[in-house]
Parts: sequence; C-alpha cells; structure tokens
Amino acid sequence: MSKTFRIAPSILSADFAQLGQELRKVIAAGADWIHFDVMDNHYVPNLSFGPMVCQSLRPHAVHADGRRVPIDVHLMVQPVDALALAFAQAGADLISFHPDASAHVDRTLQLIKSAGCQAGLVFNPAEPVDVLEWVIDKVDLVLVMSVNPGFGGQSFLPGALRKVEKLRGIIDAHQRETGRDIRLEVDGGIKTDNIRAVADAGADTFVAGSAIFGQPDYRAVIDAMRAELSSPSVLKETT
Ligand code: DX5
Ligand code: ZN
Repeated sequence: MSKTFRIAPSILSADFAQLGQELRKVIAAGADWIHFDVMDNHYVPNLSFGPMVCQSLRPHAVHADGRRVPIDVHLMVQPVDALALAFAQAGADLISFHPDASAHVDRTLQLIKSAGCQAGLVFNPAEPVDVLEWVIDKVDLVLVMSVNPGFGGQSFLPGALRKVEKLRGIIDAHQRETGRDIRLEVDGGIKTDNIRAVADAGADTFVAGSAIFGQPDYRAVIDAMRAELSSPSVLKETT
C-alpha cells in the first residue's frame, strides 16, 4: 500500500523575529504543511502565539506558484472553542485540540468543521485513545504526541510507536468501512534517524521543529527525511 507522506515543520523552533521569511524558506525547502503550535501557559507551561500571528502569516503560506500550503494549527489551550473559531477565521486549514482540554469534544469537532476547517484530536503520551471511537466520523486528523506538550527540542518517547500502531489499525478499519481517510500525524522529537521507524509504525504525517529549524540548510534536512521515508523498510523486508 503506497502512502503519501507529509512533512510539517513546526515554526515553534523558527526565528520569531522573521516568521514570514522563515515560512517562505521552509516551504521552498519542501514543507508540505506548516505546523503552528499554540500554547497558553495554562494547558501547557509555555506561551507561543495566537490567531493574529496566524492571520499575518497566512499570505506567506503559499508555494512559489501560488498554491496554498495548509496551516496545521495544534491548540494546546484550555478552553478550546473560542480560540478554535478565532484560528478558523485567521486562515487555519486544520485545527487539532486535546480532548481533555475540551468540555464537549463532539461539540468542539462540530464547531471546527462548521467553520470550514479539518478537525483533529491530539493524544498526549499518557492518554488513552478511547474517545476516538465515538467521534471518528467527525475526525480528519489524529495527532500522536511523542513528547509531553509544551516545548520544542525534547526527546522522542518510544511508547508513541505502539500508540501509532494501534491508531493505524483503527483508521484502516474505518477507511475500509467508510472509504474515508484520516491522517495520522506524530509530533515531538522527530529526526532523520527515527522518522522511518515512526512511518513503519503507521504514521503518514510528521511534525519536526528543532530538527529542521536547528540546521542552517532546511532543504538538506527535509530531503534526508524523505530519503528515509522512501528507502525500503528493513522491518518489512525480513517479514
Ligand atoms: C510540542 C509541540 C511540537 C514541538 C515539536 O508541544 O507540539 O510541535 O514544537 O518540536 P520538536 O520537533 O523540536 O520536538
Ligand atoms: Zn505541535
């Protein structure tokens, strides 16, 4: 089964003094989506940026030929609904939130979709994924945290691989039943040397912050990640 892999650089690790420029640079280097980490110093112990920054960046999230690059908003905020709506109005394409941060998960999903965006659920390392079963028809994206949310530059928690495998099973079963695909994205500590293992577990979309923005040549990192993704799997060759 061939899969379209997507790389979503997190601008949390970009130079905040020149975000528009950073967006254009990382898109020219091959980014598929722009991952936009929203932190509120309440749900997570850090503060990043809000909808006004998203709105200012929206015109920069385009390919050279003018095609739109999706802005993938990851809300680490509580409460969720008002900010989800503000981000929809600010030009977000996908909006994901943590189910434990929303009082009414189904309602929040409906709100995001009725605002014209794709909706995602995010699962922390210690969180079960049970809630997905009851709202899967409204979910376009599942985001697995492979670090505890709040900071860039942390180390990948290997327990995420088992969660990705489990979710891949659920998503594939849903696709067989309904024909509808759901993206499976992983966020935290993704580097060139572990992206392949994450893909083999079943992920199709990869957030990378420090791995990309921590290097001078963004294209070299993204190309190396794609080379890993397209190389034959050692695991699958032997089984
Ligand atoms: C963590 C954020 C991540 C983070 C990824 O709360 O959700 O998106 O910025 O950064 P790296 O790739 O450096 O772990
Ligand atoms: Zn994120």
